[in-house]
Amino acid sequence: MIAAERNTFQSYLEKHNEANWAEVLGKLLPFIHPVDQLATRIWFSFWPLKLSRSLHQAEDPQRVARHLLLDGKYRLEEQLDSSVEFLYGARFWPDVKRAILTHVEKNTRPEGTSLERRIQQVASQVSSEIRVAEAVVLGITAVGFMALQQVGIEVFSEAGGRPSTRPVDRRIPEEVLRTRCAESRPGLLGILHRVDRKFVVTFDENRKDSTFKVVRGQDLSMASAADTRDFKNQDPRRIAGPIPAQCRSAACGYCWVGVLWGKEKLSPVTPFEKQRLRHFGYASVESEGESHPHIRLSCQSRCFGDVVLVVPPWNGVLDGRE
Ligand code: FES
Repeated sequence: MIAAERNTFQSYLEKHNEANWAEVLGKLLPFIHPVDQLATRIWFSFWPLKLSRSLHQAEDPQRVARHLLLDGKYRLEEQLDSSVEFLYGARFWPDVKRAILTHVEKNTRPEGTSLERRIQQVASQVSSEIRVAEAVVLGITAVGFMALQQVGIEVFSEAGGRPSTRPVDRRIPEEVLRTRCAESRPGLLGILHRVDRKFVVTFDENRKDSTFKVVRGQDLSMASAADTRDFKNQDPRRIAGPIPAQCRSAACGYCWVGVLWGKEKLSPVTPFEKQRLRHFGYASVESEGESHPHIRLSCQSRCFGDVVLVVPPWNGVLDGRE
């Protein structure tokens, strides 16, 4: 691919801001398979344009990172392939990336066709090439275009293609949905005393043993801290349990999570938590009016059923700093 083609398409993509993308995603979401509807929204929340733009446009990115109190792995370009691991469509990521790059190559004059149409075109092409439903690859294709805008074509085409540590999972989407739906059974104490009922929190759907128990009504952060396994070697922010946490009072922003399944089984978001989510820059415009948004602070979310979470690799204060 020659540089001019790359630059033209990159310039086309860069005209899309957060509001444009929210609109694009809003139009595509109804057509994304249920297995990846929330996962797609979570990925877009974990990797907002404002984060990559703040870092790329800065003369001194490290200074910006300090100012935004960024901690963890906050650069998408360093983890492009692994960032998509929690999407069902990740298994088709190499095909999607290839198709996006071919699309870039063929569309030297990208103006005139809307971004959502382009995403649909690529998803449709991948769907016919690898014979999966278009709905199954639509979410991961939208992710691919946004990732391309953020990391640029060089990094996008150089990354390995296959999520690095993902085990092979041959289940069809409906089986994954059935597994998520299967509520854990209460033990004897749970049956006798509803108050002691425990639920299962899954914090990485792709790995066995990535679960901890939560007592009915307990907050996710407290339950996570009771998991005494060592998670610090995976992520130094995980000082106690698999979910990073420091303050347990909505002050630090470390404990944010994406809720992949069971968001209505958490306590409704309070005005205080909402305000803190906005302060950290984690809240998305489209979830503003939702009582159970897909992004939560673990220390503010009490649990009343089995849930599946995704833990982001970074935290910071994107909107609340002067
Ligand atoms: S632990 Fe600090 S915001 Fe939840």
